[in-house]
Amino acid sequence: MHITNILKLGGSVITDKKGHYSIRYADVYRIAQEISLAYSMCSKRMLIVHGGGSFGHPTVAEHGGVENPMATSQVVYFMRELNMVIVDALNAYGVPAIPMDTHAIFYRDCEKFLQFFYKPLEEAIEKSIVPVLYGDVVFGCKGSDVLSGDEIVWRLSTVFKPCRILFASDVDGVYDKHPSEVGAKLLDVVSLRNIGVIEFGSQGRTDVTGEMKAKLLYGLRYWHGDIAEVLIFNGLKKGRIYNALCGKDVHGTRVIL
Ligand code: IPE
Repeated sequence: MHITNILKLGGSVITDKKGHYSIRYADVYRIAQEISLAYSMCSKRMLIVHGGGSFGHPTVAEHGGVENPMATSQVVYFMRELNMVIVDALNAYGVPAIPMDTHAIFYRDCEKFLQFFYKPLEEAIEKSIVPVLYGDVVFGCKGSDVLSGDEIVWRLSTVFKPCRILFASDVDGVYDKHPSEVGAKLLDVVSLRNIGVIEFGSQGRTDVTGEMKAKLLYGLRYWHGDIAEVLIFNGLKKGRIYNALCGKDVHGTRVIL
């Protein structure tokens, strides 16, 4: 099935990762407005995935993982709360978005392959409904684990073959060293084969799924011949999500194999 866009809203774009359970409401509503405009102008067939930000990562860290049943229950609880805020904002701007509980349709098999039941997503998209998935807990043959929204995006792309895979982040894209370092340069294009030479560093925040590097490593794992365009850009800058969804020029980093 071909769709127009898969959009990942990074947890750092929709929440304040420095806090606990803290939402960037102004950005969430601006983003919902941009998605709504794109939905009516150019992108009816799309999937949205959002990250865990200050709802997911601290909860996992507090419990030391998700193996414990109560930890799973808490992580899912807070992720659904965050998901509802995003879906509500999209609905408020007229996007027919629906929550899609990731833990209920994804499963990690014994070969560690990420399986998922894609039919409901397919049917929703056919009806121009926008499913909103999220980084979550994934049950698996070898126990439960945290499933990053980035891996979900790449895995979805193997089935839905989007024109564009879009990662909205809190930085402009991929830098040659950590963006907070003096002299860090934004890379217009990054080849997944060359990610070994980039000094990603760490932002010192609670992130249980890895930041930029993990995003690219998943790309390497899931890359397939139907991938047309992958862009990492800054979702906190006004207008960029709309422009990216509609295929206009956006300042950021293009990812190639
Ligand atoms: C993390 O998802 C999900 C949980 C911690 C439960 P992501 O890895 O996609 O989240 P962000 O975008 O880094 O916040």
